Amino acid sequence: GFSWKLKDHPKLPKGKIIAVVVLDGWGEANPNQYNCIHVAKTPTMDSLKKGAPDKWRLVKAHGKAVGLPTDDDMGNSEVGHNALGAGRIFAQGAKLVDLALASGKIYEGDGFKYIKESFENGTLHLIGLLSDGGVHSRLDQLQLLLKGASEHGAKRIRVHILTDGRDVLDGTSVGFVETLENDLAKLREKGVDAQIASGGGRMHVTMDRYENDWNVVKRGWDAQVLGEAPHKFKNAVEAVKKLREAPNANDQYLPPFVIVDDNGKAVGPILDGDAVVTFNFRADRMVMLAKALEYEDFDKFDRVRFPKIRYAGMLQYDGELKLPSHYLVSPPEIDRTSGEYLVHNGIRTFACSETVKFGHVTFFWNGNRSGYFNQEMEEYVEIPSDIGITFNVQPKMKALEIAEKARDAILSHKFDQVRVNLPNGDMVGHTGDIEATVVGCKAADDAVKMILDAINQVGGIYVVTADHGNAEDMVKRNKKGEPLLDKNGNVQILTSHTLEPVPVAIGGPGLAPGVRFRKDVPEGGLANIAATVMNLHGFEAPEDYEPTLIEVVDN
Ligand code: 3PG
Ligand code: CO
Repeated sequence: GFSWKLKDHPKLPKGKIIAVVVLDGWGEANPNQYNCIHVAKTPTMDSLKKGAPDKWRLVKAHGKAVGLPTDDDMGNSEVGHNALGAGRIFAQGAKLVDLALASGKIYEGDGFKYIKESFENGTLHLIGLLSDGGVHSRLDQLQLLLKGASEHGAKRIRVHILTDGRDVLDGTSVGFVETLENDLAKLREKGVDAQIASGGGRMHVTMDRYENDWNVVKRGWDAQVLGEAPHKFKNAVEAVKKLREAPNANDQYLPPFVIVDDNGKAVGPILDGDAVVTFNFRADRMVMLAKALEYEDFDKFDRVRFPKIRYAGMLQYDGELKLPSHYLVSPPEIDRTSGEYLVHNGIRTFACSETVKFGHVTFFWNGNRSGYFNQEMEEYVEIPSDIGITFNVQPKMKALEIAEKARDAILSHKFDQVRVNLPNGDMVGHTGDIEATVVGCKAADDAVKMILDAINQVGGIYVVTADHGNAEDMVKRNKKGEPLLDKNGNVQILTSHTLEPVPVAIGGPGLAPGVRFRKDVPEGGLANIAATVMNLHGFEAPEDYEPTLIEVVDN
């Protein structure tokens, strides 16, 4: 039968303290002026790269290597941390939704049957991120869902859009809204009453995460459910164009707006008897809205009105909370993660980041599962993020504080694994502010140094890696790799992640002599790191895990 017990590694000892450091958004790319990691002073990360050549390598962090539909899909934190923690490659939400839509199975599932009950007398509301970024949602999936839902009886549809500019270029929102309007017009020709009802920028409206700032969700609630917003427009394309004219406006932070009819009345508040689908497949930035839509008892903000609706997520976002209870597509079953195994094998674990990345090293790491496996063996520490700012204003973020917590946890000898996420490369990179990103990269490097110093003091081992690229390339490039210019001759700033590989470095005084990276897994990806870490803790990885990156040679 199944057992959590891991086999002893034939050569590697137990009992070493291991720091697992994930630099968020830290890929490897050509050195040039748009590579913020190259421009920044990063002596610690540089020394790892220039150190022992058999203890530093690159791994894949995008596309099929992390369970995404194609190798044109850039990496992201959800799939990256899932792979790092689970040690295997699972077909991820994006892919599962593609399959369910292509086969039509999505319309035969319990989730769709549940919301369908409302189609006769109620409105179907679709809420989500409107872009083709493929990180949280995809426009083509929304288009298929609109078509399919109307063919399956939805007579009145309202779409509540969130503009992107973070996983895609800033300014692309206008085009996406035009495309959607075009689709909705076609549905209207077929007799479906379909319209955009509200909108706002993803970072300002609805898509907060890890309960950082409930005001973000409230602004969305007011527009989507109550039909109230500071800006009212008759047309969504006009809304987005107009709101982008304000100084410093961008797609990520557009204020909330509602679409009104000729009498100034909101065209699509969410009412008793309606159906609601949140069409993002990725969990972190939909969980908060899911709670607001689903929980009878709720005290995070005043909902004013709590409509009796049939609500389904595109996926179930939290497997532990079973939230939402209804969903259109079953999420990947990420079971038997390395965290769960290690806890069963006596490894005491400490995990830490600041709020905006806290769930990455806990929830995503543990296979989209909230909470502890065994509270006696684990401690998760969340450092509150600054709220209400964009991180180019505070590019150092809480890197130092995270490193201090990690250092203290290492020096306390209370833990066998100390795991952190350092957010700077990613969170500052997403602002598109190159100078600030350089400052952020240096702060992350300083944090790595503090953690490695602590590992040196206790005779431990470090594994330093990243979840995907971001800060190493801040411009959109053509196929030849040259920066693309906009119509004013300025380079087009890339706020999104990249397709670049990420580094993995191992070392520390506790690393057994003879441990080195194998040469026979050249295609290794993030999923190979879990087995590697298990080995360093003195265990063999389960047989179905992706192979370890290390070998032990006798010398
Ligand atoms: C976000 O949610 O901030 C971006 O869409 C993706 O960034 P992450 O994958 O690094 O969280
Ligand atoms: Co990111």
